[in-house]
Amino acid sequence: MPYAHITGWGVAIPENILTNAEIAQMVDTNDEWIRSRTGIEERRIAATDESTASLAAQAAFDALEVANLSPADVDLIIVSTSSPEHIFPATAALVQDQIGATKAGAFDLSAACTGFIYALNMGAQAVRSGSIKNALIIGAETLSRLTNWEDRNTCILFGDGAGAFVLQASEKPGGVLSAVMRADGSGGDLLSVPAGGSKLPTSEQTLHEKLHFIQMNGREVFRFATRVMAQATREVVKMSGFELDEIDWVIPHQANRRIIEKAASNLKLPLEKFIINVERFGNTSTASIPMATAEALGKAQIKPGDKIVFVGFGAGLTWGALSVEWTGPLAEPEAPLVWPYRFEKLYSIYARFRSAALRVIRTIEGFVWGRKG
Ligand code: ACO
Repeated sequence: MPYAHITGWGVAIPENILTNAEIAQMVDTNDEWIRSRTGIEERRIAATDESTASLAAQAAFDALEVANLSPADVDLIIVSTSSPEHIFPATAALVQDQIGATKAGAFDLSAACTGFIYALNMGAQAVRSGSIKNALIIGAETLSRLTNWEDRNTCILFGDGAGAFVLQASEKPGGVLSAVMRADGSGGDLLSVPAGGSKLPTSEQTLHEKLHFIQMNGREVFRFATRVMAQATREVVKMSGFELDEIDWVIPHQANRRIIEKAASNLKLPLEKFIINVERFGNTSTASIPMATAEALGKAQIKPGDKIVFVGFGAGLTWGALSVEWTGPLAEPEAPLVWPYRFEKLYSIYARFRSAALRVIRTIEGFVWGRKG
């Protein structure tokens, strides 16, 4: 049975920065309150020409380049998101088109901020079963578009961004070791976007009551988060056969610095083992774990062989953890690089051309079939 290794990673970080001071001009809050309660100093906001799919595609290109794979090598794309491009089609299918992943299946996964852990586990299971070789696992969000910028309880928290991992099959031991996935739907009302789905379709009234924006009971979510973070970490480490003190890094969902500190203290682990970047990006939901991982890799904090736990919680309620023995790119150094320069540019031009050609062919086919009918 093959192992599922994380061999590539990438991010998409919108350029536009929104500081606490700027939010204080929009709602009754201040920098000191936000910093002391959350640890957040600033967050990124997607530009009008950026969307969940475009951020996801950008992160995917980066991850494929690190893994030394071309989009045509990808068998499966899972996009975890709570701010999808549309209700349907799936954002993952749009990413498939934007990167030109000609033979990939693609679907979205909705488990809020825990989504990336769920998606990584599902991708790893598919790789380990032998049914696929290469998967792109993406966490992407534009939560700024679901945020009520008049609600100080929520608008201080969220940010936009995307992160992607490549999962690859290999006979070499390591990679994804164990995972825990949990849910408790009885807490669904604690954090939700109530309108716009089948229960409460968008109407004048839902718009008026701002039910198409994020609603949250912050105190209850905080209590739940501090409880499950330590619990899931302990469980997943036990499943992997290691002891807690053998873990090199914990990469938690970046929701709130205080929640991470509480988890570290519950686990009796030094905070230095936790990767934290919530101060610069806020809560990017399902994108936060791959974004924090990529940043730690960029600083050479993570090395091959390191034992890592990813742990997260979110709306649903959902929570989960996944343990990994870190690998890095599988390709031998002498192996030729696929498109060594301007990888993203070359492939995105190809993907756009391919997409346009498919649309033209579909139009011509429709015309011919229409005449026959
Ligand atoms: N600025 C100033 N005051 C504020 C603000 C603000 N932005 N927001 C709330 N307050 C006020 C409240 O009105 C309240 O005033 P009151 O006592 O007069 O009623 C007071 O500050 C304290 O409010 P609390 O809600 O108790 O503040 P708390 O210390 O719990 O911090 C926070 C609030 C930061 C939201 C915290 O509860 C939290 O982080 N919860 C977890 C949220 C989270 O992680 N959500 C994402 C989950 S992941 C996902 O699925 C998307």
